[in-house]
Amino acid sequence: MLDAAPTRETVLEVNNIEVIYNHVILVLKGVSLTVPKGGITALLGGNGAGKSTTLKAISGLLKSERGEVTKGQILYRGENTADKDPADLVRRGVIQVMEGRHCFEHLTVEENLLTGSYTGNSRAQVAEDLEMVYNYFPRLRERRKSQAGYTSGGEQQMCAIGRALMSRPETVLLDEPSMGLAPQLVEQIFEIVREVNAREGVTFLLAEQNTNVALRYAHTGYILESGRVVMEGTAQELRENPDVAEFYLGMSDKGRRSFRDVRSYRRRKRWLA
Ligand SMILES: Nc1ncnc2c1ncn2[C@@H]1O[C@H](COP(=O)(O)OP(=O)(O)O)[C@@H](O)[C@H]1O
Ligand SMILES: [Mg+2]
Repeated sequence: MLDAAPTRETVLEVNNIEVIYNHVILVLKGVSLTVPKGGITALLGGNGAGKSTTLKAISGLLKSERGEVTKGQILYRGENTADKDPADLVRRGVIQVMEGRHCFEHLTVEENLLTGSYTGNSRAQVAEDLEMVYNYFPRLRERRKSQAGYTSGGEQQMCAIGRALMSRPETVLLDEPSMGLAPQLVEQIFEIVREVNAREGVTFLLAEQNTNVALRYAHTGYILESGRVVMEGTAQELRENPDVAEFYLGMSDKGRRSFRDVRSYRRRKRWLA
């Protein structure tokens, strides 16, 4: 089985950011993350924890949702991204795959993939990138002439990821790839993420509520609760942590309590405070 090792080089650094929506709603309350180049980093936490907001703050998509980073900074390859819009970031190599599979329903799968390509690319480059995507996602090759709106949920998720890969990204921000998919499909998609990471060296920051799956594929992870990082570590450390096991692994949502409800829980020192 292929497995990449993340490098020691940091590609993305989120330093103590605060995010406010509509000038009033404080959603992120000082989030810090370090994303190693060439790794798969999981951003975990329940519904409403702030995972999507964190990804949008990085990709620049926050601005179109009346959200604003009001404190802290985000550095991509050491460069502050504050004044960058999503298109600038795509050119720098960062692309977000939005939660809920955003495909153009009326376009075919192949047309969807082509929209991910730079307009300046030559036909030969585009053909080569399509071939690369189809090699990772044989299902998309089979469905390439189908209207995306009529493909299955899994195929639409593949299409959204494939579309992002068409821009030859260095870093993909992948939001809840498992959402609404059957377990077997979730595994398939994560296997492909692992392969793209290992073969192409693409860095992934992936937001997931499905802690169990994410920690099997990620190298490192962070757990968010109510807009704060409450725990971080290597995937193995997180998997073996009794609190993570109790609250996030193999438990029904009904039984899930908060880390912060537990008296014995001590906040870990952050990698970057
Ligand atoms: N556009 C928005 N305007 C106002 N509040 C928002 C907006 N988007 C998300 N929120 C709120 O921010 C919090 C975090 O949401 P989100 O980042 O989507 O969490 P997650 O992805 O972890 O489920 C939630 O309480 C949500 O209601
Ligand atoms: Mg979300």
